[in-house]
Amino acid sequence: MQILKNHNLKPYTSFGVDAYAAQFVTVTTLTELKSALALPTPQRLILGGGSNLLFCDDFDGLVIRICLTGITVNESASDVVSLHVSAGENWHEFVQWTLAQGYDGLENLALIPGVVGAAPVQNIGAYGVELGDVCDYVDVLNIETLAVRRYTPEECQFGYRDSIFKRELKDRAVIIAVGIKLAKPWVAKINYGPLASLGADASAVAIFKQVCLTRQQKLPDPNKLGNAGSFFKNPIINKIQFSAIAALHPHMPHYPAGDDIKLAAGWLIDQCELKGYQQGGAQVHTEQALVIVNTGSATATDIIVLAKHIQTTVLARFGVELHHEVRFMGRDGETNLAEVSCG
Ligand code: EPU
Repeated sequence: MQILKNHNLKPYTSFGVDAYAAQFVTVTTLTELKSALALPTPQRLILGGGSNLLFCDDFDGLVIRICLTGITVNESASDVVSLHVSAGENWHEFVQWTLAQGYDGLENLALIPGVVGAAPVQNIGAYGVELGDVCDYVDVLNIETLAVRRYTPEECQFGYRDSIFKRELKDRAVIIAVGIKLAKPWVAKINYGPLASLGADASAVAIFKQVCLTRQQKLPDPNKLGNAGSFFKNPIINKIQFSAIAALHPHMPHYPAGDDIKLAAGWLIDQCELKGYQQGGAQVHTEQALVIVNTGSATATDIIVLAKHIQTTVLARFGVELHHEVRFMGRDGETNLAEVSCG
């Protein structure tokens, strides 16, 4: 395990913005991970695929990049296939692999960037399926005690783009593996708009292809245009607030969210005519307003200034506050849009 000093993080994050870590290690085994956690440092950051992170500044600490790999399968039950997947496996390659083995059920979650270990943190979700729907357990290494503990899905407290790993277990635990359970017989989930046209007898592979096509049409490929997927969460508002906005905008997309209503942040931003709006090298994506892209030379400050502009504009027009879904890392640890300074 090599400790790299003053290491550029640009290749490890999908935004592709320059930022340096005081120390950087890559770990490929649990033993290496434990050794890395014993290294003296004022703070540490556990890095997966870097697809949901913005480094707002250089990081004055140790970055530990998780590259644990391996998948094991248990098919002994008649009603479920159980998969034990190491945290460093690439999510999309894992989804492809399951379909190639004939294990259907993850097709709606195709092409989501990042690694398996990051999936429970923000409870990744797309096209009507969330990680929480297929999660059997999450194995976690406690940073203090170095003990491994298995969390049930209930203990993970999955919510919309949320889990215990963003809250109580933040900076306290490292996800080392995820258990996935795929129900047999498989049932297609095609309620989401672009999938409905496939028809009820669509195969998992057909759904996978349609999801890939839909994502490729709307979402920029991070290998070509730096981005971190949806920059903001879809806002959840109460019914009174919803009625007031819907009276003025009867065609506004909205979805039930318990007793509340979830709005489409992309639609709100789009209505403010911000698609294509640019700040330095950062731009609101021209096909999907919920995504901020790095056109090539964006600095973290460009992205932050643009994000604040989007937030202010949507608040002024609709009275709705947008919260960022992308995690912000400052010099001394995690921060947020309200606190971060603009350069
Ligand atoms: N819309 C617009 N203009 C836009 C973008 C969206 O009018 O520029 C409208 C769409 O026409 C649609 C609605 O807003 O009526 C919702 O848009 P879309 O179906 O594209 O989904 P989303 O709510 O913007 C969420 C997830 C995505 C996920 C898709 C599909 C969040 C924050 N984002 O986006 O996840 O792929 O649904 O399920 O929940 C991610 O988290 O990085 C991500 C890409």
